[in-house]
Amino acid sequence: MNSIVELPGDSWTQAVPPDVQNRAIEDLEQGRVLFFPRLAFTLLPEEEAFLKPEWGAGGAKNISFERETGKIWGATGSEAEKTALSRMLRRYADSTREFLQNLFPTYAASLLQARTSYRPIEIAGRPSSYRKDDTRLHVDAFPSRPTGGRRILRVFSNINPEGKPRCWRVGEGFREYAQRFVPRVSAPIPGSRFLLSLTGITKGYRSLYDHYMLGLHDQGKLDIEYQKQSPQEAFAFPPNSTWICFTDQVLHAVDSGQYLLEQTFHLPRAALRHPELSPLSVLESIVGRPLCASSL
Ligand SMILES: [Fe+2]
Repeated sequence: MNSIVELPGDSWTQAVPPDVQNRAIEDLEQGRVLFFPRLAFTLLPEEEAFLKPEWGAGGAKNISFERETGKIWGATGSEAEKTALSRMLRRYADSTREFLQNLFPTYAASLLQARTSYRPIEIAGRPSSYRKDDTRLHVDAFPSRPTGGRRILRVFSNINPEGKPRCWRVGEGFREYAQRFVPRVSAPIPGSRFLLSLTGITKGYRSLYDHYMLGLHDQGKLDIEYQKQSPQEAFAFPPNSTWICFTDQVLHAVDSGQYLLEQTFHLPRAALRHPELSPLSVLESIVGRPLCASSL
């Protein structure tokens, strides 16, 4: 397997050479993880105080920040401390946005910036239900946040100050994974997806695409044999490195690590160089019907 591709680059703001741009978009859309070993998100001296797990409210896995509104969720501390933490997350949001615009100029006009997230908790040994257990191989799909076929593009930076890597495993290709698990996904109950959006359980309408993606996510995590026996490649992302992938396409699991910054972007299928490789196109070819009302 060759799921992780190392690329040069150590600046969030400098222009990226065209040959690197070209390699990056090809590998990204094929479903590989782009790894930038020298692209560090360096904390300012006053931000180092946030390198403690206690900043997560009630043991929450994520502290979330919305760049557009400046809202922050899941953090403890005084208002002044939350404002300082928000400033750090905004810095990360701005850095990743600029970097992606330099790396993928053809995406720039279509990129939608979603939540910024800070994960100060150690992943290993954290109890959770099978659905929320990200130490099992999965593609990202969220019950309350349907994407309607838009891609999930995520930037991750390990900011661990103690030399601890973030340890991932990456599984087989999306088509193989989907072909294996689509037959186990039951058809949606008529009217149920409309009801979910009407009652506010989902933020927006859960398309058939979202239904299948959630089904793949759950069925894959439930299959313990598959989790143990399927082809997978382990990789340790060291501190002061950054990596990027489509987490709706790359089958991934996180075994251990602490202190991570993550920025999510969404992208319509039409903005891709190879839309036929997107999970939406792959699932439509397997199921044999359109899975989203709007053509993306
Ligand atoms: Fe994930």
